[in-house]
Amino acid sequence: MKYHIVTYGCQMNLHESEKIAGVLKECGYAEEAPAEEADIIVFNTCCIRENAENHAFGNIGALKQLKRQKKDLLIAVGGCMVQEEGKAAILREKFPFIDILFGTHNLPELRSLIERKRKQRKAVVSVPAERAETEDRLVPVRTSFPNAWVNIMYGCNNFCSYCIVPYVRGRERSRSAEEVLREVRSLVAEGYREITLLGQNVNSYRDGDVDFPALLDMVASVEGKFRVRFMTSHPKDFSAELVAVMKKHPKICNHLHLPVQSGSSRILSLMNRRYTREKYLEEIALLRREIPDCEVTTDLIVAFPTETEEEFGETLSLVEEADFSSAFTFIYSPRTGTRAAAMEGRIPEDVAKSRITRLIALVNEKTREKSAKYVGKTVEILCEDYDEKRGMYLGRDEYGRMGYFKSDTPKIGEWIELYVKEANGISLYGEPVE
Ligand code: SAH
Ligand code: SF4
Ligand code: F3S
Repeated sequence: MKYHIVTYGCQMNLHESEKIAGVLKECGYAEEAPAEEADIIVFNTCCIRENAENHAFGNIGALKQLKRQKKDLLIAVGGCMVQEEGKAAILREKFPFIDILFGTHNLPELRSLIERKRKQRKAVVSVPAERAETEDRLVPVRTSFPNAWVNIMYGCNNFCSYCIVPYVRGRERSRSAEEVLREVRSLVAEGYREITLLGQNVNSYRDGDVDFPALLDMVASVEGKFRVRFMTSHPKDFSAELVAVMKKHPKICNHLHLPVQSGSSRILSLMNRRYTREKYLEEIALLRREIPDCEVTTDLIVAFPTETEEEFGETLSLVEEADFSSAFTFIYSPRTGTRAAAMEGRIPEDVAKSRITRLIALVNEKTREKSAKYVGKTVEILCEDYDEKRGMYLGRDEYGRMGYFKSDTPKIGEWIELYVKEANGISLYGEPVE
């Protein structure tokens, strides 16, 4: 029997899909296959913005036909959307052909849900549990060799006023440092070359006396040649200790993803981010003083309720000042149940579109400028994949830039010294040197 998983959303979800694949294997679905050949199709959904939900609705709807042709096909929908208040009911009503619904809190129960569904025809619905059982005993089927994701914590307590994550992922819970280290050691021993520590807000990790800088220090002290990344950091918890640990270990990538969201302190306060523009810029300054070649990437939201043209201008000027090497940019999307959704002063769509267009143009220009500096230089990339269309291998440097090159021999999992001949946006093109 075969399975097919469709994943939306963040790296947390991508990793969760690896755990879902682990459960499917236990249930006898031996290999991954295209949707048309699969015996079970699982959607791992995201609800961070409206368009993420619309994508999922569209693609689940498209399965009706397949389900009609193939009576035994099972369709399961899980992830953040299912955990969202009232959404499971809507999904059930819109798509009565869904067999299994499971929230982010129900992953450990997925196996029994599948087994139950196989025995009875009626749709099995698991009501999202209030608190998550730990997922730690699930064994992921890793799909991204030589990179591996390792959860260090689940959930979020921050309640940024625009964000639905705390509602669908529940309260913060950290894994034990011992368990994280055991997992990292075994991944390195298996040959994984890049470990990404995952959490919605890794800086608030805590296991007894072990805080995030201490955990990072321990992870980077594991023997072997590998890289360490982590995401996501919250500026309110950024610390000199974190910078010191990054500086101490060459294994930790000199790249920090530090979402700022807005350049206006008034908007940041409305967003409940608990830092100001000035504090954010001080953090970046400290980081660059200590680690001059460190690159910073970020997330930005435009058209938050009541954002003025001037305040949007502050986001533009912050992009210049902070000197980001790239950024994810979003138009604010109201999420039912969050505080911002009840705020007055919605920004009209045409204004929001004009702002995001200007922001993207600026971000792209910065990215191009930064990448161009690498032409004529050699960067170390970790080869992670082969791009069929381009006929090239690809991998990332420590800053997260993609490097492309040709090779006649398999290179996935190898460290490559890439002599950069051309740069295009966030991508570098070159030749391996010995
Ligand atoms: N935990 C991470 C990121 C979570 S979601 C953090 O705090 O940084 C990833 C990004 O999606 C956020 O950084 C934010 O920029 C964006 N985002 C979240 N909710 C949004 C919303 N309602 N509308 C638009 N963008 C949103
Ligand atoms: Fe959402 Fe804020 Fe938590 Fe990030 S820190 S997941 S943006 S509430
Ligand atoms: Fe989306 Fe859930 Fe991640 S809402 S961004 S998949 S935590």
